[in-house]
Amino acid sequence: ATVEPLKIMISGAPASGKGTQCELIKEKYGLVHIAAGDLLRAEIAAGSENGKRAKEHMEKGQLVPDEIVVTMVKERLSQPDSQENGWLLDGYPRSLSQATALKKYGFQPDLFILLEVPEDTLVERVVGRRLDPVTGKIYHVKYSPPETDEIAARLTKRFDDTEEKVKLRLKTHHHNVEAVLSLYEDVTVEVNGSINKEDVFAQIDVALTNLLEQRKSALGSL
Ligand code: AP5
Repeated sequence: ATVEPLKIMISGAPASGKGTQCELIKEKYGLVHIAAGDLLRAEIAAGSENGKRAKEHMEKGQLVPDEIVVTMVKERLSQPDSQENGWLLDGYPRSLSQATALKKYGFQPDLFILLEVPEDTLVERVVGRRLDPVTGKIYHVKYSPPETDEIAARLTKRFDDTEEKVKLRLKTHHHNVEAVLSLYEDVTVEVNGSINKEDVFAQIDVALTNLLEQRKSALGSL
């Protein structure tokens, strides 16, 4: 028998570092990173009807309606790569109804990582965030500057990364977060997300290593 692939959810306020930590987790543990926000931005870029509707909500910092998001995430989780390698779900669920829908389809996490970051830090992170459209990598003008001038020249900003919009996104987050957390209490690990990204990852790494060790010893005692 082999150890079952990991099923992980990562949650936290806007710009708490979910995407940044997912890059590091993916690199070490080989999980398939599924980010609800990225799936939505791909729909927008494709110019689909769902993308157009999604953008109207994202512009206002509101949640995109369940009928768009739930199916999109469920389909991605059901793909063979996610099933074989394990998954890392980022930015979903964001409401009780999204969590309930996922449970109904049989997707339950082994671990729910909650990144905790104070609000003034979040605003600073959002305003300085930049993205590399070629590699998908996340940068920050101050905390994670680009490695070369060539990369620096092609960096882009997200349309919802303004101080005004992040305040709306934060409001939506505060409105929904408690309901989601209450569902995953027994598998939640709280992580201090306000320190540098390597030290944030070190906390997550311990939790994931422990989980894998527990699984291995459970297999060994069969
Ligand atoms: P989404 O794309 O998920 O945005 P978000 O939740 O607001 O989170 P972000 O992507 O902004 O931040 P992050 O936590 O990944 O931080 P990052 O690592 O980039 O959602 C966007 C919108 O889509 C939502 O508003 C909603 O409208 C819609 N949507 C998404 N999911 C939905 C769902 N399930 N249902 C309905 N609607 C949905 O880091 C941020 C910055 O900080 C970067 O510049 C980074 O370099 C820097 N940084 C990261 N870590 C550190 C550190 N430790 N120290 C210093 N700087 C750091």
